[in-house]
Amino acid sequence: MKHILLVVLAPLLVFVLIAAKPEKKYYDEVLRPQFHFSPPENWHNDPNGLIFFEGEYNMFYQYNPNGKEWGYMHWGHTVSKDLVHWEHMPIALFPDNDSKDIKDFTAFSGTAIVDETNLLNFQKGDIKTLIAFYTCYKGGQRIAYSTDKGRNWEKFEGNPVIPFDETDDARDPKVFWHNPSQKFVMVLYREPDKDESKRGFSFYTSTNLIDWDFKNHMVGFYECPDLVELSVDNRPEDKRWVLIDGDGSYIIGSFDGETFKSESEKLPGDFGANFYATQTWSNIPKEDGRTIQIAWMRDGKFPGMPFNGQMSFPCELSLKKVNDKIRLIRKPVKEIELLHGKNYNWENKNIIPGLDENLIKKVKGDCFHITATLDIKTSDMFGFMIRTGRKSAGAELLYNVKKGTLSCLGKTVSLNPIDGKIYLEVLVDRSSIEVFCNKGIAVLSGCFVPDAKSEGMLLFTQGGELMVDQLDINEINSVWRKE
Ligand code: FRU
Repeated sequence: MKHILLVVLAPLLVFVLIAAKPEKKYYDEVLRPQFHFSPPENWHNDPNGLIFFEGEYNMFYQYNPNGKEWGYMHWGHTVSKDLVHWEHMPIALFPDNDSKDIKDFTAFSGTAIVDETNLLNFQKGDIKTLIAFYTCYKGGQRIAYSTDKGRNWEKFEGNPVIPFDETDDARDPKVFWHNPSQKFVMVLYREPDKDESKRGFSFYTSTNLIDWDFKNHMVGFYECPDLVELSVDNRPEDKRWVLIDGDGSYIIGSFDGETFKSESEKLPGDFGANFYATQTWSNIPKEDGRTIQIAWMRDGKFPGMPFNGQMSFPCELSLKKVNDKIRLIRKPVKEIELLHGKNYNWENKNIIPGLDENLIKKVKGDCFHITATLDIKTSDMFGFMIRTGRKSAGAELLYNVKKGTLSCLGKTVSLNPIDGKIYLEVLVDRSSIEVFCNKGIAVLSGCFVPDAKSEGMLLFTQGGELMVDQLDINEINSVWRKE
């Protein structure tokens, strides 16, 4: 009898134990970004081959499937229908020559376009072919193509399209169709003669995507070129080209399909510590018309995590005349609003130093989208403490009125008030903070390692009063929760 009972009850007990065990939440490790892209595990760096196609934003990225440090570069792949929810796809590009080396013949950075006219003749049925241009380390500039919306990729038999030159360090081809000259353009990072003073971007053109003619070389750039045309102040008749360097810095000018002519000095694209290898999506539909950029948040630290790295939040780029000078403006894409959870809002609240309690003390959490219009009044300095708690003061976002500077996570930018006000838009995602100042004129992107339990937020002013004209703090829902 005892024996029979045991046979019947034992499986039941096991079932009850399994059912009672709290389910481990997907993508919920303490430093796991909740609305920024990070791979499930291992190392990633640059975004690659960004292309919108058949209703999907494709993002490929430099990926090491073997570990949490840089090396063995493949192109990882993820797709999204809305720029915020990402679905993980199988690896897209593998090293060439079946290389198992940490570096040689691995797949470095590049870009992708649609073969609109089936130039390379790979198209199957109605779905157009995607063409990726990538650098094969020590193997030159190469082509891969996909006839199934980026799911599977073949290497082009005629590779490389620009041969390897051991006296150079050519990489990261940016390819696009230049309509006025009716040619494809490639902007390629190069270090001719392995001479650091010659580092820069070279321009090539092609009519068939295979034969590339060298046109000219511009010194003063390093890695991951991008070149985009944008309207000034939304006026389609007033356009400029923006040449973007690997660190996001940029020059405004004109481009005739072969030569870039500068009209500005080189300007910083981000003032934070963690923003690199920017790229914009190609093939965004005309009706949308946006230029959308993303970057790798280089040097972010994720101790104890299964992954190592995160992307910045996708942003829309535009040009604006500020004091008669054209400047690049960067703002989070509007899709951030799809993730808004609980909203806290304050209007016309005067804050007196020392006297007032923390206006925002009821806000607790680690993922937020904040917008604020703050009237400086008599304040000497003001700002937020983010992820503050008993064990940690958290990260400070500080505006210093006398110095006219804004600081966050150890980095500082000069920022003039607009009619006595500072405008802030801030994205907080567990271990990253992106601060968009004065409607996108200056951005600081930074990573930090917060204390896991510190989920408070503080708004402060020192030396005088601060008027909160408007403050919205939106909790952000995790994009991973459903899986
Ligand atoms: C930039 C970069 C690129 C290169 C890739 C290799 O971060 O160094 O120039 O293609 O990373 O992973």
